[in-house]
Amino acid sequence: MRLDALLSRLGYGSRSEVQRLIRRGAVAVDGSAARDPSQGVLPGATLSVDGLAVDSRIERTVMLHKPAGVLTAARDPKAATVMDLLPRVYRSLSCMPVGRLDKDTTGLLLLTTDGELAHRLISPKREIEKTYLATTDTPLQTEDVSAFAWGLVLSDFTAKPAVLDIVDAHTARITVTEGKYHQVRRMLAACGHETLALHRERVGPLYLDAALRPGEMRELTADELSALRQSVELDL
Ligand code: URA
Repeated sequence: MRLDALLSRLGYGSRSEVQRLIRRGAVAVDGSAARDPSQGVLPGATLSVDGLAVDSRIERTVMLHKPAGVLTAARDPKAATVMDLLPRVYRSLSCMPVGRLDKDTTGLLLLTTDGELAHRLISPKREIEKTYLATTDTPLQTEDVSAFAWGLVLSDFTAKPAVLDIVDAHTARITVTEGKYHQVRRMLAACGHETLALHRERVGPLYLDAALRPGEMRELTADELSALRQSVELDL
């Protein structure tokens, strides 16, 4: 990729702003000052701008501990979105949410620049498991376990069989393989429970890193990314 195109993708400015940066000698590639904006750069090259190292990877996948009150959307004219919680470079690289969590749902949200990975993870036919911890207004019953296991009939669709484990009277750990709008809240409502809090712990092979506080994110490790890709038959 051309050096000016790469720096622009990484959020260093428009093509012409980046060209000016390069011409004034602010950019080094593999330790040597670069003066030609059209210079080709190989993946993995070492870059710096004004002496500061630049992470030159254009493919990124991150986990975010989504806090309550933030929309899962690329942008919104009025409300805060999950994109506001990421450093600017991720927006520049179009690192997008994989599926959606409700505004008040907390927990694991993946974001990626890899459209094929995102597409496979949300594809209904792959039935990727997602695990949630739900707090309910009324006590959970053993009949709820069975209702989830049979597949709940909702007004517009029948939910696929799901697992509900009762953790305590008002807390259930629920694993579903679908991602329809308000899916878990609606399944609990069909059993007579209002959901007071919903927190996603897991997507496929990945658990939310307990070290991430609400609003914090980190890139996936190589092992995590590899497990995630294998779970959707990429990189087999
Ligand atoms: N199910 C829901 O009802 N809400 C979410 O945010 C995720 C799953």
